[in-house]
Amino acid sequence: GRHLIEPNDFSLDEIESIMQLADNIIANPEGYSMVCKGKLLASLFYEPSTRTRFSFEAAMLRLGGEIIGFDDPNNSSVSKGESLGDTIRTIECYSDIAVIRHPREGTARLVSKFAKNMPIINAGDGGHEHPTQTLTDLLTIRKFKGGYDNHVVGVCGDLLFGRTIHSLVKMLSRYQGVKFVFISPKELQMPENILNLLNDGIYKETTNLDEVIGDLDILYMSRVQRERFVSEEEYLRLKDYYVLDKKKMKSAKKDMIVMHPLPRVNEIATEVDDDPRAVYFTQAKYGMYVRMALIAKLLGVEDKNDKCI
Ligand code: CP
Repeated sequence: GRHLIEPNDFSLDEIESIMQLADNIIANPEGYSMVCKGKLLASLFYEPSTRTRFSFEAAMLRLGGEIIGFDDPNNSSVSKGESLGDTIRTIECYSDIAVIRHPREGTARLVSKFAKNMPIINAGDGGHEHPTQTLTDLLTIRKFKGGYDNHVVGVCGDLLFGRTIHSLVKMLSRYQGVKFVFISPKELQMPENILNLLNDGIYKETTNLDEVIGDLDILYMSRVQRERFVSEEEYLRLKDYYVLDKKKMKSAKKDMIVMHPLPRVNEIATEVDDDPRAVYFTQAKYGMYVRMALIAKLLGVEDKNDKCI
């Protein structure tokens, strides 16, 4: 089967066709409301989620498919010591496609090796990757900024543990002329292995958001990832390092957009939510449409729409 474990698993042409399908679904959701009739999605979340899980489940239901899953991973036989490999081999007996989130890095890639015909989608593996958030982010950038090339993208917050950021930066670096400004405390800088993938001169690093906010076309804020910290004290010291508020937004371009994968804690003051440049809840909405497109593509049913209506 075909899997989505990290954004680089898909070519730019494949990404483009997912975006176009998402656009078509947004324009004509009824046309796709039965394309997954008779198909089952297994929803395997071994770590908490609101957006990713519910947008995947809503996506499958809105395509006419159905879902299976557990409310609590302790209710699956993994709690009796069953391996994830055996779990996936079993789930494949019952399902057409599976989405998995797990706190351990590399889990989605590992279990994909046990799935013979069932596509596996990585819904987040530890601090590593979150490719469907990247698809959500791309659709948002496309809708608000017209395309991906030549933007100055500020990425602010927990760049060390933020998996949405790792996937997004790897993805955007594949487009023409994108420049990054990495804004973080020294303790939470972008990992070397990702910086090494970027060409010289396409990024700079700073600790000071105020100094750079006026240069940005996109400001991607992120939460300090409490669940990845070994020391609670260190988390508490860093958690409110950046708070984007109305005052800071005054220095930003009139057409800059503020994105955030959510959940947010304090890093964007709620007073910013009414600013037309704040697009993070629209971003969350696009997450469902892009996941509808992804599921339809991976199951090869996107062309069934005409036959079903
Ligand atoms: N953006 C995101 O992954 O949110 P959840 O953790 O709520 O799924």
